[in-house]
Amino acid sequence: MDFPKEFVWGTAAAAPQIEGAAFEDGKGESVWDRFSRSPGNTHAGANLDVACDHYHRFESDFALMKELGIKHYRFSIAWPRILPVGTGEVNTKGVDFYNRLIDSMLDHGIQPWATMFHWDLPQPLEDAGGWRVRDTPLAFGRYADTIVKAFGDRVKHWITLNEMRCFTQLAYGHTSRPPGVVESEKVVNQTYHHALLAHGLGVRSVREYGGEGAEVGITDDSIVPVPIMETPEHIAAAQAAFSEMNIRSIDPILRGAYTDDYFRITGADAAEISPGDIEIIGSSTDFFGMNIYTGVYVRAGEDGKSETLRFPTNYPSADADWLKLIPQAMYWGPKLARLVYDVPGVYITENGAGYDDVPDDNGEIIDLHRRQYVRQCLCELHRSLSDDVPVKGYFLWSFMDNFEWNDGYTNRFGICYTDYETQSRVPKLTALWYKEVMAKNRIL
Ligand code: BGC
Repeated sequence: MDFPKEFVWGTAAAAPQIEGAAFEDGKGESVWDRFSRSPGNTHAGANLDVACDHYHRFESDFALMKELGIKHYRFSIAWPRILPVGTGEVNTKGVDFYNRLIDSMLDHGIQPWATMFHWDLPQPLEDAGGWRVRDTPLAFGRYADTIVKAFGDRVKHWITLNEMRCFTQLAYGHTSRPPGVVESEKVVNQTYHHALLAHGLGVRSVREYGGEGAEVGITDDSIVPVPIMETPEHIAAAQAAFSEMNIRSIDPILRGAYTDDYFRITGADAAEISPGDIEIIGSSTDFFGMNIYTGVYVRAGEDGKSETLRFPTNYPSADADWLKLIPQAMYWGPKLARLVYDVPGVYITENGAGYDDVPDDNGEIIDLHRRQYVRQCLCELHRSLSDDVPVKGYFLWSFMDNFEWNDGYTNRFGICYTDYETQSRVPKLTALWYKEVMAKNRIL
């Protein structure tokens, strides 16, 4: 179970989930600041004001990462820290913060992997229409130019967007994510289109200002269809389902086109596409980032078409019910991305499991449940490598327990335990095990 020599091992987190300092040093309000403060949107009314206080504690967090042998770290830059109202004047204190953060990472021997957008849209942009309107991706393009120019001398790995489904479909077609309003299907499709455009503009910023050796890709939570058994007909069903299930997100990016299938599926609700958009959306990228926690089982139906199976109520999941434990998704995700889209390289930009861990009497967190799942996922990832799928790296979500969106501070995903009273971090068993895996470059 050895991994290739150049394989990238890392951990991941995101600004809104860990930084805190939600209104410090000129940071503007994000949609998640607003949404989390409205009653009923998060578990126990949790908000992002303090979170893990990483804003003030990054030095010690990076020291702990170093101790754990973490050499690559995927973090995100908060748009409202750089541009408090989303456009216009740059907040120099915000730029200074990320300069200090990136310098400290590098001082600790940690390579920065920067996500430009992890859902924290500046609230004024939402008030002006959010992802429904074209001004938002255009503003994103200017924001991307600003951060790539500011940090591109040190950041060589860029990720444009994190999981577009979560700030389009789940935000404008469902009440769980801000703004939490249910709009028509046509509007939802338009928000997808604007997110795609933002991605393309982000890619162009890196190409223009990223300097030598800069790489860029997207991180997607592609739905991964897992064949119910690995026989040719069920594999073919999974392959057909992969493209169809992701038709509004990665499909246009990776094909550089909206296909006939897109127009067939969306019909009269298809997005309005302006001239030149497709070229921007299809801008070539260097890698494809996949966040894989779970998947869906599919089979070939009687008519040969793929059928998605419902989970029986007693199917095992993590403490978060949505996270059905399907380690094979870690094989099929990269494999299908390669088969269907011939992606140049895959990074697993997130994987992990959320549980309500509690320290034992000795203060240890023996999270064998998480360790077991992550280990099974890595075995499946290794299987895809054996099939010559170009998987280049893996980032475990998350470095430490943090603000888990609607679940607030429950449903912990960290490999380090966060004590929110004292803000101490305690490596869990998974962190100690992962340290050895990274050092030996092998599943242990
Ligand atoms: C997101 C993270 C989140 C994780 C676990 C992903 O959808 O990118 O921000 O914490 O899943 O829910």
